[in-house]
Amino acid sequence: MHTISFDGKTSGKAECDRETALLAASTKAAVPLPHRCGGHARCGTCIVTVAEGADQLSEMGTAEAHVLKALKANPDQRLACQTWARGDVSVTY
Ligand code: FES
Repeated sequence: MHTISFDGKTSGKAECDRETALLAASTKAAVPLPHRCGGHARCGTCIVTVAEGADQLSEMGTAEAHVLKALKANPDQRLACQTWARGDVSVTY
């Protein structure tokens, strides 16, 4: 079991027993993380900043890297719809 924590306009935590997408975890945590394109790595509205647990996240795929580059994102930012957590992670949005 691991915990994915969100801190932003609304804060919350999701307890997960398997690898879980950050966007799915936000729903479980009742945190209204924006996701305009529905999780298809097109809009970038689900961007989060990883505060802790970056080593517990999935590798970045091509689609995610493309969107983050277009957004001029910082190295500690990820797309919640394209990032899976296998351990404790904290993000801000
Ligand atoms: S929901 Fe659109 S990029 Fe993640």
